[in-house]
Amino acid sequence: MQRFDQPADVRAWSDAARARGEVVGLVPTMGALHDGHVSLIKLASQRCDQVAVSIFVNPLQFNRPDDFETYPRTLDDDLATCQAVGVDAVYAPTPATMYPRRFQTHVDPGRLAETMEGAARPGHFRGVTTVVTKLLTAVRPDVAVFGEKDFQQLTIIRRMVEDLDLGLEIVDAPTVREPDGLAMSSRNSRLSPDDRIAARCVPAALAAVADAAAGGERDVARLLGAARDVIGGELRARLDYVSVFDPETLEPLEHLDGPARVAIAVWFGEVRLIDNRAL
Ligand code: PAJ
Repeated sequence: MQRFDQPADVRAWSDAARARGEVVGLVPTMGALHDGHVSLIKLASQRCDQVAVSIFVNPLQFNRPDDFETYPRTLDDDLATCQAVGVDAVYAPTPATMYPRRFQTHVDPGRLAETMEGAARPGHFRGVTTVVTKLLTAVRPDVAVFGEKDFQQLTIIRRMVEDLDLGLEIVDAPTVREPDGLAMSSRNSRLSPDDRIAARCVPAALAAVADAAAGGERDVARLLGAARDVIGGELRARLDYVSVFDPETLEPLEHLDGPARVAIAVWFGEVRLIDNRAL
């Protein structure tokens, strides 16, 4: 496994692979790798001859300084994980390499970035689209894999790739969950033991909405009520938002009459968890 920290070096690696006729895949991450990330890497390995993983905790996408500072950083473990699952190259630039002193150019997402996570975390998606553009430009993959766990991010990146003619394929990967249903997340390690148990209410709230929809409920206000009841029943949980939305436009729906998803964000102390599922 090769390790790079400069864009020119990882690009030379990728150019050489493509010159040999190989397909290059990229899995962008912020590290603290778990089985969700590993599933993305395996999906990339199935489709690509060479797989690169980027590891970079992107300061630009954190709207709260304490979240950035406390975000888990486990580079040695992450490198061991990448090695164990057969990753060919890790690109782990420093913040100074990614954002040198005079850095000032950003990629501005559109309306898709205004709802849900975008409304709750001002500037977040602008930070994501900017760093992902830089990662895609450095690695120039043929394929990049993103998780449905961050459904809004996936949708915004697909839009960006099309809008900016970036010319690669975006592959989406299903959400990997713990045995009790909680979506795997690097932030789960920051939950206290009591909050970790309480966090089961997050997938449970989504299941309540999905069950009500499957049972024929079409009124979104009532569907949201089902989620609020589940979160409200857990004293350790504080609901940030829950939304039933159109999976293409991400606009909130009032009535179910076509494809729909539900997304939720919930606080446990200082830790904020997100999850979503199809209805
Ligand atoms: P990070 O949170 O590390 O996630 C990296 C990728 O793993 C994302 O595509 C995310 O959707 C996916 N992922 C996370 N948890 C998952 C799970 N339980 N199951 C399946 N996939 C999961 O998302 C980011 O980093 C950053 O915003 C990034 C795109 C790297 C830009 O900085």
